[in-house]
Amino acid sequence: MRTQVGIIGAGPAGLLLSHLLHLRGIESVVLERRSREYVERRVRAGVLEQGTVDTLVEAGVGERMKREGLPHHGIELRYGGAGHRIAFERLVPGRAITVYGQQEVVKDLIAARLAAGGDVRFEVDDVAVHDIDTDRPYLTFGGERLDCDVIAGCDGFHGVSRPSIPEGVLTEYQRDYPFAWLGILAKVKPSSEELIYSRTERGFALHSMRTPEISRFYLQVAPDEDLAAWPDERIWAELRARLETVPGFTLATGEIVERGITPMRGFVAEPMQYGRLFLAGDAAHIVPPTGAKGLNLAVADVRVLTEALARLFADGSTEALDGYSTACLPRVWRAQHFSWWMTTLLHTFESDDAYARRLQTSYLDYVTSSDAAGTTLAENYVGLPYQEETS
Ligand code: FAD
Ligand code: DHB
Repeated sequence: MRTQVGIIGAGPAGLLLSHLLHLRGIESVVLERRSREYVERRVRAGVLEQGTVDTLVEAGVGERMKREGLPHHGIELRYGGAGHRIAFERLVPGRAITVYGQQEVVKDLIAARLAAGGDVRFEVDDVAVHDIDTDRPYLTFGGERLDCDVIAGCDGFHGVSRPSIPEGVLTEYQRDYPFAWLGILAKVKPSSEELIYSRTERGFALHSMRTPEISRFYLQVAPDEDLAAWPDERIWAELRARLETVPGFTLATGEIVERGITPMRGFVAEPMQYGRLFLAGDAAHIVPPTGAKGLNLAVADVRVLTEALARLFADGSTEALDGYSTACLPRVWRAQHFSWWMTTLLHTFESDDAYARRLQTSYLDYVTSSDAAGTTLAENYVGLPYQEETS
């Protein structure tokens, strides 16, 4: 078998890459370890930057998102007994976010690929990459061989692509946080129209949503927390304690339909490429979720990679591909910093003394009272312009 681009992983990065390449007349095969049902049900991120929304719409896969996605023009920072709105419409006019579940994006992309006759293979075992330091790389899986011009490693943080790069090539940067997030999805109307990021002495909580009937919540918990220690009543009691901190706010509760614990980590591998293997999305970098950047960053990588591959297949030029990592990393590091900053601003760190807590409050007061500081949060949250748009 032969294709132009062999893509490992049918997450947002791999599927969007396959779709954008198809629009440029470039063939690809996507190899995914899990079943279609599994990837379509995997609950993860929910906040799409303006640029992500525009990318999906321009690529013709935004119809359902435009219908069902919830555009938001602000978020609330809740602390010290009061809520403070960060007003995107005033601070970053014309830019907003859309709340639309990652698995809905994945469903839309799979449907588009299959409708166009795309080759997406699920439940593929033992994918391995070979000869990436030549211009005839290939993939093997389940006894088959797929020859490619280029391989895209879109297989997430625990995939096979990054570890296939010879030792000594990559420099890895990592920051582990001393807490995790317990996330739930519940059948209950959201208690707020906008997302609430709540900082309390008991730890951080986030109220998000998916639809007018489904809410999404996160709680800061210990890094080694056992889900079994969190029966429904405890989850709701803790969410209430951390969200009902302003007068007049009551949290509506309902049936919990999904739950999980996510470790909090920042990670970047540089460069995001080796020979004919290019890493995109979580395969190359992850962020703590507080800034809602993970999925959006995957989309930004894929945009750059698509352009570079289009150049390669148009005229054999490798210049843009050679510069792929260099083109992506400034945005990757901006997202690392923003995610670290939001995480530090809102979580309780056991190592913090009273002085550190005062500093945190002071910074929150600044962000919620100064337009200059508020704009820093707003412009990063809705997403900075893509590099192509600024150069
Ligand atoms: P992924 O979505 O991880 O996709 C990689 C794909 O590759 C998967 O389908 C995987 O099954 C497949 N794969 C892996 N190994 C192989 C292999 N060997 N062979 C074939 N296929 C393979 N971000 C937020 O902004 N907010 C959140 O609340 C949030 N929650 C998260 C919760 C969890 C548990 C995780 C892991 C991430 C979360 N993120 C969140 C981050 C966000 O979801 C990711 O940044 C996003 O999924 C990145 O997309 P991706 O396509 O790069 O990787
Ligand atoms: C959601 C996840 C995030 O990490 C975040 O910062 C905001 C919202 C969500 O899943 O809805």
